[in-house]
Parts: sequence; C-alpha cells; structure tokens
Amino acid sequence: MILVTGASGTIGSELLRELVRKGEPVRAAVHVRPLDADGVETCNIDYDRPETLSPALEGVDSLFLLSQQVTHEKPMVDAAREAGVRRIVYVSSFGADRDTFIVGQLHREIELRIQETGMVWTFLRPNYLMQNFITLMGHDIRNEDAFYDSIGDARVSRIDTRDVSHVAARVLTESGHDNRAYELSGPEAITHHHAAEVLSEVLGRRIRYVELDDDSFRRRLIAQGVPEDFAGFVEDVNRRNRNGETHDDVITDNVRNILGREPTTFLRFCQDYAPTFGGR
Ligand SMILES: NC(=O)c1ccc[n+]([C@@H]2O[C@H](COP(=O)([O-])OP(=O)(O)OC[C@H]3O[C@@H](n4cnc5c(N)ncnc54)[C@H](OP(=O)(O)O)[C@@H]3O)[C@@H](O)[C@H]2O)c1
Repeated sequence: MILVTGASGTIGSELLRELVRKGEPVRAAVHVRPLDADGVETCNIDYDRPETLSPALEGVDSLFLLSQQVTHEKPMVDAAREAGVRRIVYVSSFGADRDTFIVGQLHREIELRIQETGMVWTFLRPNYLMQNFITLMGHDIRNEDAFYDSIGDARVSRIDTRDVSHVAARVLTESGHDNRAYELSGPEAITHHHAAEVLSEVLGRRIRYVELDDDSFRRRLIAQGVPEDFAGFVEDVNRRNRNGETHDDVITDNVRNILGREPTTFLRFCQDYAPTFGGR
C-alpha cells in the first residue's frame, strides 16, 4: 500500500491520478482541501495532530511525503518509522544539499532525519514549479495581464509539476531508486521576461513581467495571504537567484532518464493551461 500525503495538492493530486491509472494500491491522505478523485481510499491527517498519523499509516509499505510547511513533516517521519513503513519518497527542493537558502536547509534537515531512521529513501528535489505561474501568479495574469516578482532576470530551469508527479509514480512502483536523490529540472533555463513572451504568444495578448524590489514583493505576498515567514523565504531565494548565488539554472537529465522522454517545455505548459490564464 502506498500512502500519498498532500493528495489534494498540486504534486500529490497528479501523482494520485497516475497511481490509480496504473492500478496501484493507494490511500490518499487529505488535510483540509477535499480530494478531487472518486473511488480512492482516503484518510484524514494533520501533521500537527500526531494521533491522526498512525491510523493513516496502517498497512503502508511506501510513504510519499510532502507538505506546504517543511517543518510540519518531522512527526510524520517519526510516525512512519514507528509504523514499520519500509520506504519514504520525499519531495525536497533543488539544491537542498548544496545551496544555502532557507527552504533548502529546512528540506535538508528532513532528508537527514529520514536517513537516520534506516528506512529506504528516495529524495525528489524539483526546481521551481511552472505551476507557480498558476498558484501564485495566475490571478494577476488573468485579471491584469501581468505578473509580479523580485527574481530580476535570473534564469531558472523550472519544471512542470506533472513531470515531478510522474517521476514520483515511477520511483514508487519501479526498482532501482533506493537511497537515491534526484535533482529535477525542466529542459531549459528561462527568465521571467522570456516567460512573459511565451505567455503573450500563447494567450494572444500582451502579458507583462513587473519587476519588484525585495521589500515591495514581500509585502505584496503578505497582502495576498502568504504567511510572513514563507514570504521571507521566497524573498531570500529570489535575492540569491538575482545575485547568482544559486544553481537554479542547472539542467539535469533525471526526468529523461526516469521517464524515457523529454521534460515538458514552458511553451507546452502554457498551451496546456491556456484556459486557466484566460486564454482559449
Ligand atoms: N512550488 C515550488 O516551486 C516548489 C519547488 C520545489 C519544491 N517544492 C516543495 O513542494 C512541496 C509543496 O508541494 P505542492 O506544490 O504540491 O504544495 P501544495 O499544493 O500546497 O500541497 C501541500 C499539501 O500539504 C497538505 N498539508 C498542509 N498542511 C498539512 C498538515 N498540517 N497536515 C497534513 N497535510 C498538510 C495540504 O493539504 P491542505 O491543502 O488540505 O491543507 C496540501 O495537500 C513543499 O515542500 C515545497 O517546498 C515546491
């Protein structure tokens, strides 16, 4: 049995679809948001309420683990060890073991804790998700034909979430991935100015990228309801990208090696999600 946490979230929902399509025995762990899938065994969990974790882990061989707030995940790692889970596939972040940005360090702490448990592990370390253009910027693109960020002109090898989820499905159902860490990137490293050009071309209207300074960007995120600490994390990583202190422009071949096909381009992502951005 595979337990998928974050099953109603961006990465988890696509993974769940893929595992169901493959006919794998799967249980979906739901927190607050309802699940958008029929006929799947579900359970309710809250990392902050340890009593919800062991029932969810009953009979589980493989745990797919992620959360919005990285610090929440420690109790789940401990509960998995106690429940006798054999393997954890953990969603970490690009460069977690080499870059010094705050989110990466938090992910690295969880990775080390997982390794200490003695369970078999696989770490998926995706770069920025293309789907952030929907979850974080989609509202502005739809309503203002613009998106706002403080990342300047940094090149980033963004990856389509669907590729991350499909890699996770392979790792969870195939052999050969024990105790491996995979840095996952898209096929090209692009700037926000280039992204604006692609969006404009696909949507048939001009989409602008508006560069903000650190402070304006952080205040904008907080005004949109993003928690203050998380807004600070994003500001931190954007500044490091602008200053060339990260490796977020690196392109890896792990998606191609695992899936046997090229990762999704930003153009294809925009075409597939055009209606979400108010296009045809
Ligand atoms: N976005 C990026 O560019 C990017 C890049 C690299 C790595 N990552 C990593 O990917 C992870 C986020 O994945 P995602 O994009 O799929 O996020 P997401 O859509 O926000 O999903 C997060 C999931 O975690 C669940 N969750 C939140 N709090 C919980 C709790 N207390 N107990 C149990 N479940 C809880 C949420 O459920 P509810 O919605 O019901 O609360 C949701 O299903 C993070 O670790 C992030 O650092 C993201």
